[in-house]
Amino acid sequence: MKNVVLVGLMGSGKTTIGRLLARRLLLPFVDSDHEVELRTGVRIPTIFDVEGEAGFRRREALTIAALMEAPGIVLATGGGAVLDAGNRNTMKRNGWVVYLDVPVRQLYERTRNDPNRPLLRVPDPLGRLEELRRQRDPLYREVADFILDGSRYHSSSAVNRILKEW
Ligand code: S3P
Repeated sequence: MKNVVLVGLMGSGKTTIGRLLARRLLLPFVDSDHEVELRTGVRIPTIFDVEGEAGFRRREALTIAALMEAPGIVLATGGGAVLDAGNRNTMKRNGWVVYLDVPVRQLYERTRNDPNRPLLRVPDPLGRLEELRRQRDPLYREVADFILDGSRYHSSSAVNRILKEW
């Protein structure tokens, strides 16, 4: 059985929807960010502070590769996981990938003032999200088997819509 993999920008609902989806599919839910934190014993902002984004990406790639070996999980990935070509290949090979496509304005409302998102610790977080969307949207589309128009669904109806495609 392929793993269900959720991709999308910060605040797109990967963790919330992933948890609900896993419950409905009776599969274990795993969040790659949480797994990186468990393995290192520190929070993600600390990894960024100590090792920089490159250090975090290395840890994230190792974690995703290991998690994707187990069949039958629902995996919520960090927003930048698709930047790594190896991650994209693993997702395509072992996963059924859902892109949660949510308008930047909504992402901004959900993530503003969240201290756990180091990439948004900038003077203009909305501009930053727009830039990340421009950069990553093509990559999310490249890996996606299904694209959910997140502007049209709340968490529980999003899950129903995803299950219809599954
Ligand atoms: C990141 C998203 C975060 C986390 C890290 C970097 C990104 O995960 O992996 O802060 O590059 O977009 P969420 O998408 O779960 O917030």
